[in-house]
Amino acid sequence: MADTDAAKEAKKFYQDVPMETPGFFLKGAASLDWGMKNRLSRIFNPQTGRTVMLAIDHGYFQGPTTGLERIDLTVVPLMYDADAVMLTRGILRTSVPPTLNKPIVMRCSGGPSILKELSNEELAVDIEDAIRMNVSAITLQVFIGGEFETRSVHNMTRLVDMGLRYGIPTMAVTAVGKDMVRDARYFRLACRICAELGAQIIKTYYVPKDFDTVTASCPVPIVMAGGKKIPVPDALTMAHNAVSQGAAGVDMGRNIFQSETPKAMMQAVRAVVHENMEPADAFDLYKSLTKDTDSQDPK
Ligand code: 5RP
Repeated sequence: MADTDAAKEAKKFYQDVPMETPGFFLKGAASLDWGMKNRLSRIFNPQTGRTVMLAIDHGYFQGPTTGLERIDLTVVPLMYDADAVMLTRGILRTSVPPTLNKPIVMRCSGGPSILKELSNEELAVDIEDAIRMNVSAITLQVFIGGEFETRSVHNMTRLVDMGLRYGIPTMAVTAVGKDMVRDARYFRLACRICAELGAQIIKTYYVPKDFDTVTASCPVPIVMAGGKKIPVPDALTMAHNAVSQGAAGVDMGRNIFQSETPKAMMQAVRAVVHENMEPADAFDLYKSLTKDTDSQDPK
């Protein structure tokens, strides 16, 4: 029987009781194989249990996004400060030096551009190519409630199966359609479906109300997507709230690479995520690092 609004009040999420993780530092990963755990330990810092992932895969459906026009000039330097980098195989092969010793989270879905229905995606990478590129995780969009919901969920389960075959974790990104309500109820639904169907990491959006119910009801680590560019103090506050409410870090793009001084922003986000720095102190750090940075413009 479908869970109805009437049953909502009866739900108990026990947000104050962290899920036990016997024998491994990451939620839901204790029973995974060695290779999978090793890759997860490259993405998530075993000391803090968290990650600062840099998302730069936006071009796979929207072309040369502001801030990503020249990956080689302005974005590669940022990668050295991230714990992991989320990107497409095209950018990895063409623009990223193979000497970059950072875990790669490879975007494996694609199809429609911003001119079409975005939920109509297919898998767009062979697992052999992901292995060839030595990735630490594979990732795709999942459109719960979207027009092509079933297709995107099946894309995910196929990717999870391929990843399990070779010990590569899958990160499911809960995509939000244009007309969808972004609230905790929706994200609980989307994140839980992705975890139930096998994803080892979920990337989702922060919501101001009841985000802790989203993380508590999801048995695998959640990383917070940044979303569109907002003022720096707001972005730092959002990251702080997300990790305080159970997120295992962030996977941020525009709020880092579109900021005035992306390197300073990266350090401020790192302080929030790995040191639990208060947003106001992290903003002070950002300002002081910004003052020391003449210009991020390579020309
Ligand atoms: C959606 C993605 C993007 O990588 C991600 O959401 C973008 O990061 P941000 O929202 O922080 O710019 O998975 O396509």
